[in-house]
Amino acid sequence: MVGVTTCNSYDSNKAKKITMKLFDVYPLFNIEPVKAQGSWLWDNDGNKYLDLYGGHAVISIGHSHTHYVRKITEQLNRIGFYSNSVQIPLQKELAEKLGALSGHDDYELFLCNSGAEANENAMKLASFHNGKKKIISFKNGFHGRTSLAVAVTDNPSIVAPVNATDNALILPWNDEVALEAAFQKNEVCAVIIEGMQGVGGVYVATDSFLKKIRTLCDDHNAVYIADSVQCGYGRSGKFFAHDFAGVSADIYTMAKGMGNGFPVAGIIVSPKFKAKHGMLGTTFGGNHLACAAAIAVLDVIKAENLLQNAELMGEFLINSLRVMPGVKQVRGKGLMIGLELEIPAGEIRDMLLKEHKIFTGSSSNKNTIRILPALNIGKEELTIFLEAFAKVMNKVLVKS
Ligand SMILES: Cc1ncc(COP(=O)(O)O)c(C=O)c1O
Repeated sequence: MVGVTTCNSYDSNKAKKITMKLFDVYPLFNIEPVKAQGSWLWDNDGNKYLDLYGGHAVISIGHSHTHYVRKITEQLNRIGFYSNSVQIPLQKELAEKLGALSGHDDYELFLCNSGAEANENAMKLASFHNGKKKIISFKNGFHGRTSLAVAVTDNPSIVAPVNATDNALILPWNDEVALEAAFQKNEVCAVIIEGMQGVGGVYVATDSFLKKIRTLCDDHNAVYIADSVQCGYGRSGKFFAHDFAGVSADIYTMAKGMGNGFPVAGIIVSPKFKAKHGMLGTTFGGNHLACAAAIAVLDVIKAENLLQNAELMGEFLINSLRVMPGVKQVRGKGLMIGLELEIPAGEIRDMLLKEHKIFTGSSSNKNTIRILPALNIGKEELTIFLEAFAKVMNKVLVKS
């Protein structure tokens, strides 16, 4: 039995016990989930919630899926961790399964721990590959909070002075003319783009824009990086949302849905990149437990045909929402949906949560609700949401 010791500092001036607090960077709901199953959560008072947000788009195969729990538990009982200094066959199994399901068997996998880290590694690899420095990204995009990832993210309030760099060129979204001009003016190392902007409010990259990126990267020896951290892993109905354009990226970055809540991320890289020992690295990336979680996710996506379910349920939800009162626009594909209202979304989300116990997501577009449910959600659960949404909208629209 491990003893629990509380360590308290002692402020001798005030003769008062000081207890360590959390660094307060998150606005939190006053809800404490203690149990979860599929698309449902229960809090410590026994209230049941419908989860249409999956904790920032992370829950892909549903909470506490039995196959997932079993695979992780069995792995933990054997070995949970060793670093990338020994053979870890689970990594190869993960790569094989990922290659098969994503349709990129000829790409190679590097494993890490978070979306930002995946993007950092992708941009670093691009620069190692062609020796260049300028990275193109897009307005309203989000790529993470670490050094270069945050520098190419269009949100000055989260870019610290030390992260700011002339190497980031942030261009208008879906603007082919501006993109072409930037390539003429600059020695471009890479273009990083979300297939659908998530945090920005679910804006879809046009097929024509992604094709243009492909052509310009080919013509100028630049690297096309598909940030699939949020829109990837089947969420759009295809394995990568970028697949709709019918051209391949050089590097795909992934995280969120990859581990269904277990922190695991990765990049897959085309055969044009040559690996060198020491070029990339991480202590935790690709550990036994992370691989077990990621393999379980792929097993379930395949066995339960979740890409197809995401496509069908997405169509049902998008078509149903488009005809509802107060809805200005419904954007997205599959189960990544931006529901833009004619009124601010904050009050509507609050009412959905408080009056109907339904979690939804916000976005930087203040009128847009993000809907990012588990990929195995069914019509029954979505209908519960549609009915609640109609009630809330009616109530608010009648009032105004
Ligand atoms: C498209 C995209 N890229 C990167 C990230 C960063 O991922 P993480 O928070 O795991 O570092 C996010 C997170 O929301 C994201 O949506």
